[in-house]
Amino acid sequence: MRKIRWSAALAATALIVGACGGDDDTTPSATDAPSATDAPSATDAPSATDAPSGECDGEQIELVTFTNSVGQGKELEDAAYQRFTEQNPCITVKQIETANEVEDLLNTYLQLFEAQSSEADVFQIDVIWPGDLAEQFVDLNDYGAAEPAAEHFPAIVENNTVDGKLIGMPWYTDGGLLYYRTDLLDKYGLEPPTTWDELESAAQTIQDGERADNPDFWGYVWQGNAYEGLTCDALEWVKSAGGGQIIEPDGTISINNQAAIDVVDQAAGWVGTISPPGVTAYAEEDARGVWQAGNAAFMRNWPYAYSLGQADDSEIKDLFDVSALPGATAGQTAATLGGWQLAVSKYSEHPEEAAKLALFMTSPEEQKIRAIEGSYNPTIPALYEDADVLAAAPFFGSLLDVFTGAVARPSTVTAPDYAATSSSFFTAVHSVLTGDKSAADAFAELELDYQDAFPDFTVGTP
Ligand code: GLC
Repeated sequence: MRKIRWSAALAATALIVGACGGDDDTTPSATDAPSATDAPSATDAPSATDAPSGECDGEQIELVTFTNSVGQGKELEDAAYQRFTEQNPCITVKQIETANEVEDLLNTYLQLFEAQSSEADVFQIDVIWPGDLAEQFVDLNDYGAAEPAAEHFPAIVENNTVDGKLIGMPWYTDGGLLYYRTDLLDKYGLEPPTTWDELESAAQTIQDGERADNPDFWGYVWQGNAYEGLTCDALEWVKSAGGGQIIEPDGTISINNQAAIDVVDQAAGWVGTISPPGVTAYAEEDARGVWQAGNAAFMRNWPYAYSLGQADDSEIKDLFDVSALPGATAGQTAATLGGWQLAVSKYSEHPEEAAKLALFMTSPEEQKIRAIEGSYNPTIPALYEDADVLAAAPFFGSLLDVFTGAVARPSTVTAPDYAATSSSFFTAVHSVLTGDKSAADAFAELELDYQDAFPDFTVGTP
């Protein structure tokens, strides 16, 4: 499984590194996003609006990094790079724009590493990648990261530490949330659902009522495309039903169990009933597009969608709130742990400057700006007590246990083969969502696939 999937990932990539500003037409996900997609693409960050505070009196260096234009990511990054350049006039920052889905970004990175390319310096890496990609990055402890890293959540620093090397500075963390329309729950006399059954029934009731005026209205939108986002959603279903976490941290292959089978079959029943048939091609931005247009009662998404939903141009401003996701029984909630780190390529010709940028971007000051302007969860516990942050994103305080208790995908135990492990899982789940297989068949096959891939692991219960 491993070799095949990795080389397939390399061969299948449609992204051309360096195609700055090329709109992604390989995925549907960015199309209805109200922001970022039509922003100027490869920006040399310092714009003419604010003059740099100092002139560069030495060699001018250009650092190259990436941008993943989900939500307001790019706008916030542009502003941050401008602040960085004002403080460091000899360093400018250029961004390579990539598609929204993490597989596309990973494929771009794998091409660069394969070529041992010095083309890019600072890499945005998903919380699931340190194990798979560790050998491509410098140890940031060699560049002054040890002290600032001590201010971040220890579990994330540990996740990013591979064989004693700190290969990524925590930038923001993520956890899956349930978004719900407060006005519609009031209108239909409903409470926010705490179980999947309650969600189903509330979504159906609201959908039936709203369809009278709005034929485009749906009960529940989420991420059902065959990609990493589906691994996140499905892990939440499975974990919150008592079905474990696919492969347990001790190497037990647990996915083929009745609780997991039942909940994934239940989710397949949402497709075309309370969720659009097209949800099996949805990524984060597709779900947000429907939700933010006022066409859904509930949405599963990451925290970034909160601030966008509260923007002046949003149809649902002040009409929604967020909670922990439902579970099989009340309180049995699970949020998948997501989040991003900044890493420096070992092929970079400017590792000092690149590390400086990574430390700047992940600093408390910059994380505070992202938290307030974009509802990106800080990785620094102190910011969860900051009054300005809590005013902008009150759920950072009320749902803190959701974020600190989020369930990790099995990326550490399966490293360096997490990408292939996840791909097998989301492919299996997707085949159930599209009605090609029963969850029982899909997970029996998946279990065999994992046994082949990981001969040292054993099959067992969660
Ligand atoms: C978010 C999460 C990331 C996850 C991705 C899936 O970006 O932060 O961890 O892999 O969504 O789409």
